[in-house]
Amino acid sequence: MSNTNSKPIECSLRLMELLEWIEGEVLADIGCDHAYVACNAVILGKVKKSYACDIAQGPLDRAIETIQECQLEEKVIPILMNGMEKLPEDVDIVTIAGMGAMTILEIFDKAPLKTGLRLLLSPHKDAQKLREHLKEYSIEILREKMVYDEGHYYPVLDCIVKEDVATLSLQETFLGRNVVYNVVYSQFLNYEKNKLSKILANMPEGKGQELRSKLDIIKNTH
Ligand SMILES: C[S@@+](CC[C@H](N)C(=O)[O-])C[C@H]1O[C@@H](n2cnc3c(N)ncnc32)[C@H](O)[C@@H]1O
Repeated sequence: MSNTNSKPIECSLRLMELLEWIEGEVLADIGCDHAYVACNAVILGKVKKSYACDIAQGPLDRAIETIQECQLEEKVIPILMNGMEKLPEDVDIVTIAGMGAMTILEIFDKAPLKTGLRLLLSPHKDAQKLREHLKEYSIEILREKMVYDEGHYYPVLDCIVKEDVATLSLQETFLGRNVVYNVVYSQFLNYEKNKLSKILANMPEGKGQELRSKLDIIKNTH
């Protein structure tokens, strides 16, 4: 149910798919830029309040403009900060989208990751690297989905901070954990299979072991 009188702001399919999985009381969108996620999460009634956070003043100014246009000054609070360094205590769900895995991991280095915190992560590159390192931060992937938007595939990882994080299998590290198996994911697997087959066709035998095992796993999954 909607939380305001505003209509949702038009935004990309990628961000709408991220919004679909937001569920909590108070959201912090890290690297918010335009603040579409922080505002829409409130407008769509996904959370009661949100923080639109960015490291740079330019994007934060864009966020403030959107907040004012939607008249959400009471419910969406802009914060200038690096990553999650000054994350307010009342946040129970965090979104990070449109950044590479290495930037996301650097953010976790200085983040107050309290048990029970939900995280929705949508890296624009190196998802495998992100999965490989999440356990070091006590972050477990609960489920994933693949989004196809404007010619690119974007994974969305729904995660939680907890003790005793499950160790990922090789298949989960390569291709995701508990992924929603739909047409988009099936097309993604096909795309990966073709890409890897082409790369390996030009590689001498005995080289590219990781890519070969990834290709074998895709062939057995698909
Ligand atoms: C490509 S934009 C993505 C915007 C939006 N999240 C999306 O997915 O459309 C990346 C944004 O992250 C911000 N950013 C980069 N590193 C950051 C950090 N360490 N902490 C907070 N924001 C950061 C940038 O200033 C920029 O506004």
